[in-house]
Amino acid sequence: MSLRSASKQILAATRNVDKLREIRQILEDTGWRIAGLDDFPPYPEPSEDCDTLLGNALQKAREGYRRTGMLTLADDSGLEVDYLNGRPGVRSSRYAGEKATYEENVDLLLKELTGVPSPERTARFRCVMALVNDKIERYWEGVSEGIILNERRGQSGFGYDPVFWSPELGRTFAEASAVDKNRVSHRGRALRSLSNILRELA
Ligand code: IMP
Repeated sequence: MSLRSASKQILAATRNVDKLREIRQILEDTGWRIAGLDDFPPYPEPSEDCDTLLGNALQKAREGYRRTGMLTLADDSGLEVDYLNGRPGVRSSRYAGEKATYEENVDLLLKELTGVPSPERTARFRCVMALVNDKIERYWEGVSEGIILNERRGQSGFGYDPVFWSPELGRTFAEASAVDKNRVSHRGRALRSLSNILRELA
């Protein structure tokens, strides 16, 4: 990729196309172009070996800046289920195994919550967004509260969206439009805080 317009371009240090799509939608009006790791074919798989969302987000953002020289943002996010004492949390993408699919992760979650009544199925998505270059090292957090249903509802979104019912929306994230999900989601909240800085830097 050409770095000619690097001053108006940020790297989002992710290969997750679903996250990248949401990051682009939410930051659309900031005037920055958002590149993904697939724009840098030799880029290795980002490491996520910390045991906190913040540790992983900072690690991915620092690595992105070091390898490309671009202002880099990195998202680390997860689902915390109260009945499971905060699991799967930082291990949300690997809950059912290292290479688990969204489908397998949701199946395991529903299995672990079998028979658990609705008031005890409270959960939240949490997202930490880090932004790093040679002048900045900052992070923001966004949280969205909800309840884990006992079956899937809706076709949109990704990951745990079909079983995450949002009281703010009155539906699951997978039943919501992208605009509505982004308005109340953990990622939307973290990115809207960060977008003020991007406007200043633009
Ligand atoms: P990581 O941030 O790449 O470690 O992975 C986060 C994992 O949490 C994803 O693979 C999803 O399973 C889940 N996740 C994060 N954000 C969302 C979301 O907005 N909707 C549904 N699942 C999510």
